[in-house]
Parts: sequence; C-alpha cells; structure tokens
Amino acid sequence: MKRKKITSGADDASSGEKKNQIVSDEKQSWSRRNFLKSAGMGAMALGLYQSGCKESPKTSQNPDPPLISGFERTASGQDTTAVWKPFSDRKIRVGIAGYGVCRFGADFGFQNHPNVEVVAVTDLFPDRCAELAKKCGCSKTYPSLEEMVKDDKIEAVFVATDAPSHAKHVLEALRRGKHVASAVPAVFGSLEDADKLFEAVKTSGLKYMMFETSCFREDLYAMRTIYDAGGLGKLVYSEGEYFHYMGEPIDSFREWRVGLPPQWYPTHSNAYYIGVTGERFTEVSCKGMASVVNHLKAENNRYKNPFGTEIALFGTSEGGMARMGVSWDTPGDGGERGRVRGQKGSYYANYEGLEKNLPDIIRPALPPGVPPGGHGGSHGYLMNEFVSSIIMDRKPLVDIGMALNLTVSGIVAHQSALKDGEWLKIPQYKIS
Ligand SMILES: NC(=O)c1ccc[n+]([C@@H]2O[C@H](COP(=O)([O-])OP(=O)(O)OC[C@H]3O[C@@H](n4cnc5c(N)ncnc54)[C@H](O)[C@@H]3O)[C@@H](O)[C@H]2O)c1
Repeated sequence: MKRKKITSGADDASSGEKKNQIVSDEKQSWSRRNFLKSAGMGAMALGLYQSGCKESPKTSQNPDPPLISGFERTASGQDTTAVWKPFSDRKIRVGIAGYGVCRFGADFGFQNHPNVEVVAVTDLFPDRCAELAKKCGCSKTYPSLEEMVKDDKIEAVFVATDAPSHAKHVLEALRRGKHVASAVPAVFGSLEDADKLFEAVKTSGLKYMMFETSCFREDLYAMRTIYDAGGLGKLVYSEGEYFHYMGEPIDSFREWRVGLPPQWYPTHSNAYYIGVTGERFTEVSCKGMASVVNHLKAENNRYKNPFGTEIALFGTSEGGMARMGVSWDTPGDGGERGRVRGQKGSYYANYEGLEKNLPDIIRPALPPGVPPGGHGGSHGYLMNEFVSSIIMDRKPLVDIGMALNLTVSGIVAHQSALKDGEWLKIPQYKIS
C-alpha cells in the first residue's frame, strides 16, 4: 500500500393525513412568502439554487461566483493505487430526504455504492424532489420524509433536511425501524432533543451516524490514525475553526441560517479534538462579541443571538485543553481546519514528534464509482462508513455518542457566551 511520507522527529410528522396537510400547508405558505420577495433574498435564493452550491448568483458582472465554502472537490490524500475489496453482495435499500441549497441528498454517493439501492427520495418542494430522484437514478418519490419512512422496503434513511429538523426527522425514521445517517448538526440548540435522541438510538439497536465532514478530511484522518497508533499520546492542546463569512446569510429552508448562533454549528471545528480522539469536552468557557452584521444582531433574528463569532475554551476528558472557534462575521481567510499537540507529537500540516514507526495515513480506496466528493473529499468516506457499519453490524465512526459530544458542547458554549464566558459543565454521551 502506498504510504505518505511522514517527517518524524522534526488534521415528523406522525401518521395521518391531517399532519401531512399541515406539512404541505406550511411548505406552501413558506414558498409563497419567498416567492413574494421578488427582489433581494428571493432572487438570490433562486440564483443560488440554479447555480449549484454557489455563494452568490451568477450575473454578467460575476459569471463564476465561488462555491459555498467546503464544496470544492478533492481527490488528494486518497489511495488511488489500492483497490476496494467487496465484502458482501447485500444491497441496503436507502431512502434520501432533502435537496436544499447545498443539494446534500445526492452529494454523498449513495447512488454509486455497490451495496446500496436508492429506492426512494423526498423533498417538500416537488421540483427539488424530482431533481434528487433524477440524480439518484430512482423512480420512487414521496412528498415528505414522514411519508417516505412508512415505506417498509426502506432499511436506511439519509436525513439531509434543514438543520432544525434533524432531531425530529431522525426520531421519526428510527420510530419506523430505519437505520439513519444525518447531516450535521445532530440537534439544533436543544439539550432535551439530545437526550431524547440518545435514548432513542440506544433502545432501537439501529445504526445512527452523523456525517461530520471534518472527520474524513485528509488531515483529520491522519491525526486519528496516528492517535490510535499511539503516535500523539494524550492530546494536551487542540484547536479547530469553522470560519465562514456570511455578511448575508445563505438562503435556507425557513431561513434557519439567519442569525444562527455560531456555536450551534460547532461540529466542523470540534471534530479536531473529538473526531481525532473519540474523547469528550467536559466544561467550557466561551466568549462572543456583539456583531456588526445585521442578521447577527439579537433584535434581528429568531434566536435572539447577538454574536457572529464565538470562541470556546474547553476542558477535555483527557485532562487537556482545546480552543474551538466558529465565525460568520469576519471577512477573510476561512475554512474548516484544525491542529493538535500531544504528549508524544503534534500534527499541523504533517506529523512532527517522537514516534518513528508510524501507520499508513493515506485514506483507503473507495468502492468503484464512489467519488470522495466535497468537503475535502470526505463525503464518499462518510457514506461508505455508514453503509459498511450496517452490513458488518458494527459501530459507525461518528456514532450517536460522538455526534452528540460534537454538537452539545457547542450548545453549552453558546450558553456560556451569553453569560459572558461563565464556565459551564457539558453533558457526556457514551455508548459502550
Ligand atoms: N459540511 C457539512 O457537513 C455541511 C455543509 C452544508 C450543509 N450541511 C447540512 O446539510 C443539511 C442540508 O443543508 P441545506 O443548506 O441544503 O438545507 P436547506 O435548508 O437549504 O434545505 C433543506 C431541505 O430539506 C427539505 N425538507 C425539510 N423538511 C422536509 C421533510 N419533512 N420532508 C422532506 N424534505 C424536507 C426542504 O424542502 C429543503 O429543500 C443541513 O442540515 C446543513 O446543516 C452540512
């Protein structure tokens, strides 16, 4: 197997027509509201949607707007010489929900995996639903996730709906006996939902995985592999960032990104400790600064959130420290990144440390036809991990424990920021 050179010594609705009617009515009134915004955000949303994961609409002055941060495709850091070995003839029957501004439903390669058959898709918007079906080569569509999960043929569901709906949608899919993969975050600002989800997954015996993209980035994969082999020792200090300037929020379903508290979206940065070690944050002190960006002023958003940047100092379950930041209101260099320093070595762009005999840190081959995809070539790996965990009946990497430790620590960090940095304890989730 090819090795990367390492420098040593020197990253719901429940059943019934009535409820469905409500979903449908909500959808329509939301569509109508948006349609009526003929200028500004409405037009911008349309442009975003048509241009495909772009930060702004295509115009004659700006014919090639940049992609939304993280949507760059990459194949680096992947073993292109090795061949993926099939291990089962089984085909998992998957249903996919959500084809919003990020077009996430079709972006993880379920439709390309030899052990998957995408049997149904859904989005509340019929045009999005139809496009998702086309992209996935699937003829069966449902008007909502709630309808789709009633289909007994479906064994597993990918929840790529809006972030505020994840908990509700995952619970509904579990209730119907499906394994579930969810886009981040696991829950949206609610500690009660976190506890509910934890209990539901634990008692269901079904697989749950959160698709935290940083966890399969090239650098974090290397960090985790070296950590597991003992090359870093315990982590003394780690830091991670998700910096993404949103002077205008990206238009999203029912505008959930308007005024979003930064630490309610903490998983990309927190992964640079939790996704490396499998450990947890135990306590936090977080600071924020009143934002000058309009949608991030408390009086202008539904979350009463005054912050566009929140920087958290965490204590870790290994007894170390971590600094994790999320920022929407600071223009300039951005991305989803991190670094770690351990008792035996550190990882910035490379390993530097005491261990001479290091493991292979190149990400393995993917099944034929499965692209690594967006967010540093992580999408294909996340999907493959979920599918493999079902077929092999094993714990997926980002299981419910890790998913909630990644998410809940940020929710508590936001509470701390609202209390001017008061130290707060963080609930711990662990499945043995
Ligand atoms: N790096 C990452 O991991 C990353 C990057 C981008 C987005 N995301 C996550 O991916 C998810 C999707 O993001 P987005 O920007 O496309 O969201 P969005 O808000 O633009 O779209 C959500 C979609 O879900 C659909 N939906 C909502 N309720 C539904 C239901 N009951 N049944 C069927 N469809 C339903 C809506 O119709 C909409 O099209 C979000 O949760 C976001 O947090 C993660």
